[in-house]
Amino acid sequence: MKHIIKFSLLFIFSITIMCCGGDNKKEAREKTNTTKKENSKKKEAIYDLSNKGIGPIKSLEFSAEIHKEMAKKGATIFKSKCSVCHKPKKKYIGPAIKGIYKKRSPAWVMNMILNPNEMVQKDPVAKALLIEFNGVLMGNQNLTEKEARYLAEYFRTL
Ligand code: HEC
Repeated sequence: MKHIIKFSLLFIFSITIMCCGGDNKKEAREKTNTTKKENSKKKEAIYDLSNKGIGPIKSLEFSAEIHKEMAKKGATIFKSKCSVCHKPKKKYIGPAIKGIYKKRSPAWVMNMILNPNEMVQKDPVAKALLIEFNGVLMGNQNLTEKEARYLAEYFRTL
């Protein structure tokens, strides 16, 4: 009789473990699904050419040809003020710059250079970038609009 009781207790115990184990798996699956959904939302936010960002630049359209003098000045500024964190073609402390206009509007790029603090607080794309880059703040480099414009032109050459 004692054996039977012991055996049934053991049986009930194993069933309980099996059931709970299943629940955990289900939970884990649901969690992965939500993360996937969140990630795809993040991607949507990151590729947005209609977004002009927040800051002094309301709109900017490039001329058909790259302005070589401006781009050259931009390259010099980039080396002295930005290359601590950015490499033109590789992700570093900040994102790579090459191909930026496939993802962002020229006005957005200018506003990110001139007004990064407000951008990472309010602009959905910049906010997502701040998370992706582990909360590292780009910080305002105190450039003039002209200097930012040279940089924006330089980015076209990358
Ligand atoms: C202290 C490091 C640091 C410096 C210096 C810095 N950046 Fe950044 N930059 C970042 C980080 C990190 C991000 C991603 C957003 C964030 O985390 O704030 C970023 C984002 C950007 C973006 C948006 C990139 C994208 O994929 O949309 C541009 C454009 C940019 N920086 C340009 C510049 C320029 C131009 C300079 C120089 C005037 C500069 N940055 C200086 C760290 C820096």
